[in-house]
Amino acid sequence: MKRLVIVSNRVPVPKEGLRPGGLAVVLHDLLALQGGMWFGWNGTTSPDAETTPPQIQHAGGVEYATIGLTPAEHRHYYTGFSNSTLWPLMHSLPEFIHFERRELSTYWAVNERFCDNLLPLLREDDTIWIHDYHLLPLAAQLRRKGVRMPIGFFLHTPFPAPDMLAIAPDGGTFLRDLLCADLLGFQTGDDTANFIFAAQRTAGARLVAPDTLSFEGHTVRVGAFAVEIDPDAFAKTATDAAEAPELKQLRTSLAGRKLIFGVDRMDPTKGLCDRLAGYDRLLESYPIWQRNVTFLQIAAESRVDVAAYKALRNELESMIGRLNARRGQPDWTPLRFLTRGSPRRVVAGYMRQAQIGYITPLRDGMNLVAKEYIAAQDPDDPGVLILSRMAGAAKQLEAALLVNPLDHDDLADALNRALGMPKAERRDRWQACRAHLDGCTALGWGQAFLRTLEATVT
Ligand code: F6P
Repeated sequence: MKRLVIVSNRVPVPKEGLRPGGLAVVLHDLLALQGGMWFGWNGTTSPDAETTPPQIQHAGGVEYATIGLTPAEHRHYYTGFSNSTLWPLMHSLPEFIHFERRELSTYWAVNERFCDNLLPLLREDDTIWIHDYHLLPLAAQLRRKGVRMPIGFFLHTPFPAPDMLAIAPDGGTFLRDLLCADLLGFQTGDDTANFIFAAQRTAGARLVAPDTLSFEGHTVRVGAFAVEIDPDAFAKTATDAAEAPELKQLRTSLAGRKLIFGVDRMDPTKGLCDRLAGYDRLLESYPIWQRNVTFLQIAAESRVDVAAYKALRNELESMIGRLNARRGQPDWTPLRFLTRGSPRRVVAGYMRQAQIGYITPLRDGMNLVAKEYIAAQDPDDPGVLILSRMAGAAKQLEAALLVNPLDHDDLADALNRALGMPKAERRDRWQACRAHLDGCTALGWGQAFLRTLEATVT
């Protein structure tokens, strides 16, 4: 079997006794199964990072090769071009885009440094799998330096409609660079279609089969590979958490009130301000729920140096204060908002406890929290998922209550409907959503991508 080399911006090297969460586990498991190396940034900054060779570590049968970033690279490549320009661009949220030309040149330079540090570590029988928007030029840079082994690329974010790319700094370059890979994977059919259209219109690629583009004598396959979770394992985690002290404390504090629950990174794409406004509108339009409901939102701080994230935190802080001050009562706090992350097992327990999963991103590549909420439910008495139409997961979980994340009345109506929904309807909707998770595993997603990559190059 070929050695697998995964390249991503951040590499979560496992620490003694700790296992990373989410997708990191899947990529680690894939590497452990197939044998391979994970290359990328180790999460640190230091002035001499540019001249320090990759650090090699081994854990759980996987090799980790990591490099640091200089403070300037971190500012311009990570905080700047990746997260202040590309992230909002990929999510089609131009109001959050900030662009600085020197950040773009550092972005290219850091990708070049990834390329130069990776090259000596590669072997002829490797399969390379590059992840996400931080590394859009990398496949092309590797090819220019003579790499001939199979290269796959997966975009975890949405891919925007072609007219959004018109505001990308030289969007055509990114498209042409991506077209140097052998397989390009996206979360949904819409993302794939957007890419195919843009590649033809902007980069001059030709569609030679429904899933194959030809560009400068090279063919590249494109397809949708929806990221999945392990629903059975997550259901077990949620069930096991029911008697944990954290859950007992939460239940006592709720004093019989219904629980609305959300969990996200604190990120402008997650629609947190509108989500709070929708809840506020519920309490205003449907006063029957006053004192009878509690909304618990976990929003772990993230990318704290990015200006849009700082502004979001300030806005949320004043909204939270206003909402609780206006609507609260001496013995009832309508909103509980936590910016500390909670252990995964406790979050799973909160999901099972909650009558409503309230997940309303403005736009999201997939949103695994939505899938986890479904997996966590008690099949006999499930809660209701309220999900933004703009999340990739909405393409699969159509039986959730799908909402417009900007329409506060729509959010309030959905909350009211979910809070009063009869058990039979809750079950029907839940079973339809759960059916989409049946037979899927997180590892299966990765294996499907790699199988397609192998079939593409042979
Ligand atoms: O969703 C994109 C993503 O890069 C994830 O892969 C990651 O878990 C999350 O954003 C946090 O990213 P960062 O490395 O910027 O903290």
